[in-house]
Amino acid sequence: MSAGIAETRDVYKSTAESVAHLDADVEGMWATEIASIEAALAEHYGDDLTETLTPARDHVELRNLLRAAAPRLTALTDRIRGLFDDGVSGVIVPKLGLEGFELGQQRTGVFALAQLLGDVTPTHPVDNRVIWDVQNHEAGTGHSNFSENDREAEYHTDSALLPIPERFFLLYAVKQATCGGGESYLRDCRVLIRQLRESPEGKAAVEVLRTTELPTRVPKAFRKNAQVEGAYSYRTIIGDTPLWRWRKDKIEAGLVAHPEYATDEVRKALDTVDARLADTTDELREPIPTDGLLIVNNHVALHGRSAFTDPSRHLLRIRFHEPA
Ligand SMILES: [Fe+2]
Repeated sequence: MSAGIAETRDVYKSTAESVAHLDADVEGMWATEIASIEAALAEHYGDDLTETLTPARDHVELRNLLRAAAPRLTALTDRIRGLFDDGVSGVIVPKLGLEGFELGQQRTGVFALAQLLGDVTPTHPVDNRVIWDVQNHEAGTGHSNFSENDREAEYHTDSALLPIPERFFLLYAVKQATCGGGESYLRDCRVLIRQLRESPEGKAAVEVLRTTELPTRVPKAFRKNAQVEGAYSYRTIIGDTPLWRWRKDKIEAGLVAHPEYATDEVRKALDTVDARLADTTDELREPIPTDGLLIVNNHVALHGRSAFTDPSRHLLRIRFHEPA
């Protein structure tokens, strides 16, 4: 996949148009291929293979093993790759075919799919595992991550503080919320920028956010892992790779600590973007159905999630870079 080129394609009239729905023929796919996928993982990881799954020792080697082990899954991921090469901001596969398999096999299957598409990264902040269970853990950990509570997750991009955030993440729904909540939101930033440029204040906002480095508060976990140095990271909101970085709460924290950056110009630009995002006309909003898969180009799309109350809602999240 050629990062950078697809990102600059500005051909979509709306976010909905930039997200592809892929009805894949998955009948019998996993029943045929899951055992050979498990064998490929056992071969690659040897004694290091654990239930939690960690990043590959060698991404290319593992990808080649998986390609040989799972030709139908490989064909599916090649189709997905082609869609992203064409510039889509997201791909939805409404039925992946893993429903009814035990959870461990669902995890293995989704991991193999991600590794066929790219270089899977460890999740943060706890350990080296690559699959994050998106569930309501509020009572337990005390973390403020969107993926660990049931409140609304406002629009953001993932890993916004990293020098190069992962280009992709996927969410697989083991179980969709039955309460009507937990819907995913998406906004294509190419559409967003074009809409902003239609008004003088929007045009000015894009210019300010493209040219002004703003301090963003770095969460402790990133500092602990030494992924980012210092308590604040200084970057522009709008760039080339990624096109947009957005963790509004951390940006606000940065401006509070460094008020010299909170100029009228910057405040106005941020307010203009907030107002644009509050207008949901261009929003793609839908739940990921049980056994459904959503893959997002995190370099061009903002995402969020509505609040939910169903405690059994369970998603798996994996992030990955473009294959090196
Ligand atoms: Fe996220």
